[in-house]
Amino acid sequence: MRKGWQIPLAAVAVAVAAMVVGCGEKAPAKPLVEADSPAAKLYASNCSGCHGDGLQGRSGPALANIGAKLDAAAIEQRIAKGGTGMPAFEGRLEQGQIRELAGWLAKQQ
Ligand code: HEC
Repeated sequence: MRKGWQIPLAAVAVAVAAMVVGCGEKAPAKPLVEADSPAAKLYASNCSGCHGDGLQGRSGPALANIGAKLDAAAIEQRIAKGGTGMPAFEGRLEQGQIRELAGWLAKQQ
């Protein structure tokens, strides 16, 4: 009886431990599409502080799959106009840079 319980309990403990560890870990940042693009540098210097250097999100939402949610035009609009807690980059970055950044982000999905 005693032994019969010990094995399932151990299995449950291992499963729970695995779940806890799984939740505590940040999902590994997936490789960026075109990581050596000039847009990636713009991203690193203007956006990564809030969105994470691997697009994994920090104070701002993750952008790792942003291309699946927004198209380049919508992303361009968002960068130019900002949002709640996000500054507008219109006037800080050139229009061409914003467009380049938006096009690059739209490929991340
Ligand atoms: C000061 C922090 C901050 C900086 C810097 C910042 N963002 Fe954001 N960003 C946010 C926050 C917070 C949100 C979510 C709030 C909202 O949607 O209005 C957001 C939302 C977004 C979204 C929409 C995400 C979605 O899922 O709809 C995009 C795209 C985005 N940011 C791109 C950028 C890019 C590109 C840059 C750099 C040019 C940048 N952000 C710089 C804080 C920031």
